[in-house]
Amino acid sequence: MYSRDYRDFGTPPVEGTPVTLEIDGVPVTVPAGTSIMRAAATLGRSVPKLCATDSLKAFGSCRLCLVEIEGRRGYPASCTTLVGEGLKVRTESARLTSLRRGVMELYVSDHPLDCVSCPANGHCELQNMAELLDVTDTRYGLSGKNHQHLPKDTSNPYFTFDQTMCIACSRCVRACDETQGTFALTIQGRGFASKVAASQNEPFFTSECVSCGACVEACPTVALTEKSLIALGAPDRVVTTTCAYCGVGCSFKAEVKGEDVVRMVPNRDGHANHGHSCVKGRFAFGYATHPDRITTPMIRASINEPWRQVEWDEAISHAASEFRRLQATYGRDAIGGITSSRCTNEETFLVQKLVRAAFGNNNVDTCARVCHSPTGYGLKSTIGESAGTQAFDSVMKADTIIVVGANPTEGHPVFASQLKRRLRQGAKLIVIDPREIALVRSPHVEADYFLPVRPGANVALFNAIAHVVVTEGLTREDYVAARCEPDSYKKWRAFVAEPRNSPEAMAAFTGVAPDDVRGAARLYAKAGNGAIYYGLGVTEHSQGSTMVMAIANLAMATGNLGREGVGVNPLRGQNNVQGSCDMGSFPHEFSGYRHVSDSAVRGLFEQAWGVPLLAEPGLRIPNMFEAALDGSFKGMYIQGEDPAQSDPDTQHVTAALATMECVVIQDLFLNETAKYAHVFLPGSSFLEKDGTFINAERRCSRVRKVMEPRAGFQDWEITALLSNALGYPMHYRHPSEIMDEIARLTPTFAGISYEKLDRLGSIQWPCNDRAPEGTPTMHVGEFVRGKGKFFVTEYVPTEERATRRYPLLLTTGRKLSQYNVGAQTRRTDNVKWASADVLEIHPHDAEVRGIESGDLVGLTSRSGQIVLPADVTDRVRPGVVYTTFHFPDSGANVVTTENSDWATNCPEYKVTAVEIVRVNQPSAWQKRHHEFTERQLALLKGRQPTHV
Ligand code: SF4
Ligand code: SF4
Ligand code: SF4
Ligand code: FES
Repeated sequence: MYSRDYRDFGTPPVEGTPVTLEIDGVPVTVPAGTSIMRAAATLGRSVPKLCATDSLKAFGSCRLCLVEIEGRRGYPASCTTLVGEGLKVRTESARLTSLRRGVMELYVSDHPLDCVSCPANGHCELQNMAELLDVTDTRYGLSGKNHQHLPKDTSNPYFTFDQTMCIACSRCVRACDETQGTFALTIQGRGFASKVAASQNEPFFTSECVSCGACVEACPTVALTEKSLIALGAPDRVVTTTCAYCGVGCSFKAEVKGEDVVRMVPNRDGHANHGHSCVKGRFAFGYATHPDRITTPMIRASINEPWRQVEWDEAISHAASEFRRLQATYGRDAIGGITSSRCTNEETFLVQKLVRAAFGNNNVDTCARVCHSPTGYGLKSTIGESAGTQAFDSVMKADTIIVVGANPTEGHPVFASQLKRRLRQGAKLIVIDPREIALVRSPHVEADYFLPVRPGANVALFNAIAHVVVTEGLTREDYVAARCEPDSYKKWRAFVAEPRNSPEAMAAFTGVAPDDVRGAARLYAKAGNGAIYYGLGVTEHSQGSTMVMAIANLAMATGNLGREGVGVNPLRGQNNVQGSCDMGSFPHEFSGYRHVSDSAVRGLFEQAWGVPLLAEPGLRIPNMFEAALDGSFKGMYIQGEDPAQSDPDTQHVTAALATMECVVIQDLFLNETAKYAHVFLPGSSFLEKDGTFINAERRCSRVRKVMEPRAGFQDWEITALLSNALGYPMHYRHPSEIMDEIARLTPTFAGISYEKLDRLGSIQWPCNDRAPEGTPTMHVGEFVRGKGKFFVTEYVPTEERATRRYPLLLTTGRKLSQYNVGAQTRRTDNVKWASADVLEIHPHDAEVRGIESGDLVGLTSRSGQIVLPADVTDRVRPGVVYTTFHFPDSGANVVTTENSDWATNCPEYKVTAVEIVRVNQPSAWQKRHHEFTERQLALLKGRQPTHV
C-alpha cells in the first residue's frame, strides 16, 4: 500500500515513438508501448484497477480495468492493452460500470468490508475500489465457499501475511521477482485454490524471503501488512526523509502518529531507490526509541568512577574547560576530533570547523579513514575527483559489470536489486572476490566469470587484466589520446605489458585461473559499456589506493568513463561516508577536497571564520592513538563513532583511549568507545534531526525531523554549544544556514540549498552555475583534473601473508540484517536473522582441524585471539576464512592488525593471517572484555542523578 500522496499510473513508463489516440474524446500522445491505463492516467483519468501498479509489469488478472475500444469486440483490460495510433477508447460507460461492479462483488464475497476496524482503513485499494464502484455488499453473500478460515503467517518479525485478505492479484509475487529479485514467492494452485506461498510453502521467516518489504508495499489490501501499522493504527502525518543506514541513501516517507513512527514507506519518487528498500531502512528503526538510549548528559573524572548525570550546561562547560586545560598543559595539538559518517553533512562540517577554528589545530579525521580513504586518494590522483562517477540508474545502461570487493546483496541491497534487474535484461557480470558472494549465483542471475582472488592480491589481478587488454589490442587508443596524459599512459602501457604482469605469471599470487582472467578482461574491454562497482574489499588493503588507481587506469584505457552505463563506482558503506569526506573531515583538507596548505583556499576560510588556520595537516586517527600512547595526545571529541569496535587492533585502540584524560562521546548508546569516556553527550537519531546526507552517487538528500530529539538537542546544536563554550561563537538557527555556509565556501556545493533540495528532491554534486541542477554523470567530455593520469601500479604483496604459524587468511564483510558495529541493528528485531558473528571456514580446512559447524573455534593472529562459532561452508575457498564484525563480544578487530594502506593509512581489514583451532571457552580478551563491559554497565546503571 503506497503512500497516499503518490499518483500511480498503473503500469511502468516506456520509451518509444509518439503515438496519438483519443481517450474519452480527449486526444493524448504517449510513447508507443504505453498501456491504455497509463495513457488515461496521463490525462488524469484513473481507470479502476487492483492488480496493476506502475512499479510492476502489467499482469491483467483482476479484470477491473476493462475499457471499450471503438471497432473492437469485448472489453479489453486497459493495463495489458497497449495504445495504438488513432484508437478511440472509452473508460466509462454503464456497461463498464456494471462489469466492474460484478468483479468487485466477487472479491467482496470473500473479503468482508470491515474497513472501519481494519488497520489499512483509508489506504486500502480494495476499499477504494469498492467505494468508487459503490459496492457495499455482495449478491453472493459471505457464506459461500471462501478463504476466511485460513491461518495468518506472523513469522516475520515485521509483517504479517493474512491469507483471508488476499485477492490473489500476484502483485507481491511480481514485486519479489521484479523489484527485489529474490523470487521467494509463487502463486500455488489454480482458480479458487490459488494462494500465495513463500518458498516451498514455508513461513515467511524461514523462507528465502529477505524481508525487503517490497511485497508488503505492493499489496493492495491488508493481506501483507506491517505489524507496526497493526499495532499503532493509521498515521496522521508523513515526513519525507533519507535512510540512515547504507550508502544507497534510500528515500522514505516516514508515516507518523504523534511521536511514533508507524512505518517507513519507501518513496517512489526517491531518486536512489525508486520506491524500493531493504530490511534495515524499511523496518529496523526501533533502535531510535530503544530503552538503551541515553538521554541525559553525563560526566565522570575517570573511567573507573560511576557516571554523574548533569544538566547540558554543566556537561558542555566541563568538556570545554577540560579541552582548554589539556591544551594549556600539553599544548595546542594535544586534542582532536572525529566526525561521523552517520551524522549529517551539516553536523560533520561543524565538527571539523570546531576542531580547526576552536581547537586551533587540524586534528580532525573521520571513520572514512578506515573504509574509503583510498577511494579519495586514488580517484583524485587519476581522474581528479574523490567520488563515484555515475548515478545508480546508470547501471541500467551497462553491458558488462565488474563487481570487485563488494557484496551488494548484503551491503547495498537496493542497488543490488537494480543491478540484478539489469543482469536479467542480459548484461554480463564479472565477480571478483575471495568469497562466493550471492551475486555469483542467484535466481535468474549467474556471473559469467567468478574470479576468486586470494585476499591481498587485487592489484596483481587487475594488472593481469590490464595486461590482457593492452597486449591483445583492446584499449581505446582514440579515447586515451583525446582525454589522457600521453606520457603517463605510455609508462603504464609498457608496465602492464611486461610478461611478469600476465595472468599466467600473476596466478601464483592471485590463485585465479589465467584463462578466466583473460576471458573476463576481454568481456569487459569489448563490452560497449563497461562499469566497475567496488567496495571495501578493494580499499581496505595495504595497496588500497594502488588498487583504486588500477581500477581507474583500466576504465580510462578502455574508454569506460564519462557517459552513462560506464564508470568507476565505489559503493560507500555508511549513509554519509561520501558527505563526511566532502565536508572537510580529513586533517589535510577543507570541504571540497582542498588542501589546507593552499593559501588562497585557507584565506577564504580564515575570512569566513574570522580566525587564523593552520597550513599543516593534523593527525589522522591512527596517529592520534599513537600520540596518545606516546603521552602527547590527551583528549578527543568523538561524534557518532565507535573506534573501539570499528577500528583495527582493538587492544591498541583501547589502550590509547585509556591513556586520555578527556574523551567526549556524542552518541545514542554507551558504545564500546563510550566505556572509555569521561563526558557523554546524548546524541540524536536521524529521525530527530534536520540536515542532509550524501550517498554513494554524490546525491545530496534531505533528512527531515520526524520527532523531537529525545535528549533535547540535534547533534549540530550540541557541537555549536561546545564551540560557544570554547569561546568560538557558532550561532546557527537551522541547519539550512550551515548548508548555505558550505555552499559559500565549497565550489562543488555552490548551487545547493534547502530550497533547491525541496524543489528537486535531491541533487548530485557538483552543483554550481555550470550545473545548476547537479551532475548525474561526471567527467563527460574531459576529466575533472583535465587529462586523465595513469599510474604504474606495481604489485607489492602485503606483509600480512600466510605462514606456518598463521596459515589461513581472514577476510571480513557484512550481513544484510546487520549494519557496521551493529549498535543500531542489534537493538532491533533484525537480530532474529543474525544474533552473533560466525566464522566461515572451508570444509577442507575444517576437516584437517577437526572442526564442524557450530563448534567454538579460537582464531589467533599476531594481534590477538578471539573465539567464534564455526560455519563450515564452501562459500570461502580453501585457505580463506571469513567473519563479520557486528557484535562487540566477538571482537573481530582484536585480530586485525595495524597494517594499512601506504597512502592513506586505511587499515588492512581484509587480510589477516590467522590460525584456527577448536576450543571450548572464550578467549582471554573476550573474558576481559566481558568483565570490563559488566563493570561499565554497572557504573552506568549506578549513575547518580543530576545535582547529587
Ligand atoms: S519481503 Fe521482499 S524478499 Fe520477502 S517475499 Fe516480500 S518481496 Fe520477497
Ligand atoms: S498477498 Fe496481497 S499482493 Fe499478494 S496476491 Fe494477495 S492481495 Fe495480492
Ligand atoms: S539499501 Fe541502504 S539506504 Fe536503502 S533501505 Fe537498505 S540500508 Fe537503507
Ligand atoms: S488492473 Fe488491469 S486487470 Fe487488474
